[in-house]
Amino acid sequence: MAQSVIDLPRARRAVVPPLAKAAGAQALAWTAVQFLVAVHPVGGWISLALQCAIAAGIGRVLGLAPWWMVLNGGFPLLVVGAIAVSLNPLWYLAAFLLMVAFYWSTFRTQIPLFLSNRSAIEALAGMLPEGRGVRLLDVGCGTGTVLAGLAAMRTKDQLEGVEIAPLPYAIARLRARVADGRFQVSRRDLWSEDLANYDVVYAFLSPVPMPALWQKVRAEMRPGTLFVSNTFDVPGVPPDRVITLGEGRRALLVWRL
Ligand SMILES: C[S@@+](CC[C@H](N)C(=O)[O-])C[C@H]1O[C@@H](n2cnc3c(N)ncnc32)[C@H](O)[C@@H]1O
Repeated sequence: MAQSVIDLPRARRAVVPPLAKAAGAQALAWTAVQFLVAVHPVGGWISLALQCAIAAGIGRVLGLAPWWMVLNGGFPLLVVGAIAVSLNPLWYLAAFLLMVAFYWSTFRTQIPLFLSNRSAIEALAGMLPEGRGVRLLDVGCGTGTVLAGLAAMRTKDQLEGVEIAPLPYAIARLRARVADGRFQVSRRDLWSEDLANYDVVYAFLSPVPMPALWQKVRAEMRPGTLFVSNTFDVPGVPPDRVITLGEGRRALLVWRL
């Protein structure tokens, strides 16, 4: 059991992060443009357009998702624009630090911050066992939106969350205080958490970690306990129950272990 907790993140780290591929695409495109311009001199705007197009194409060849073409193609334009407006570099540093505090390791984990909405929280509260309190963990609890919502509706439950990004964690801690400690939040990595301690594990992450998370769930959660994923499925493992959340693709997918 402990083996899976240690090995799963290591396996995920072996994959080249998209940001590294994007940086590689820009560097390769820059080299190609320098070569082309040396052979056949062209104006600045044409070499900029070449940089955008070649970087977008190389990113795709390196296996980045199609929408990365927009990012790779637009990045050189942003750099040129940023140089043109000549803002004080401290603004860029401040913006960068704010993004780091909010998104932390998203470049590696590919799990950004976005929050469960009211209908997801109400559906989650409604499907939990009645009568007795349950111990629930929100893996990657963000700003504590789910825990705060549940705490207001379910007074008997023991509600906990782990969050790795500093600023969302700080906000979740503050909300827990405001809620008189009716839920707890820890700044911990979800992959180090022993899921055997919980009756319900709630996840709203991204498609990327779902196969590894399912392995962890299978290895650690006790029989009869519930794993609930907001929207993101486990490839090849149909849920036992699907609770649709109004219009759109969002749903709570529920597996009973
Ligand atoms: C999509 S948000 C969901 C927030 C919250 N659960 C909700 O439903 O409103 C996912 C969160 O998981 C956090 N996260 C990503 N990887 C993590 C890890 N290894 N350990 C703990 N938190 C993580 C991210 O920082 C982000 O805040």
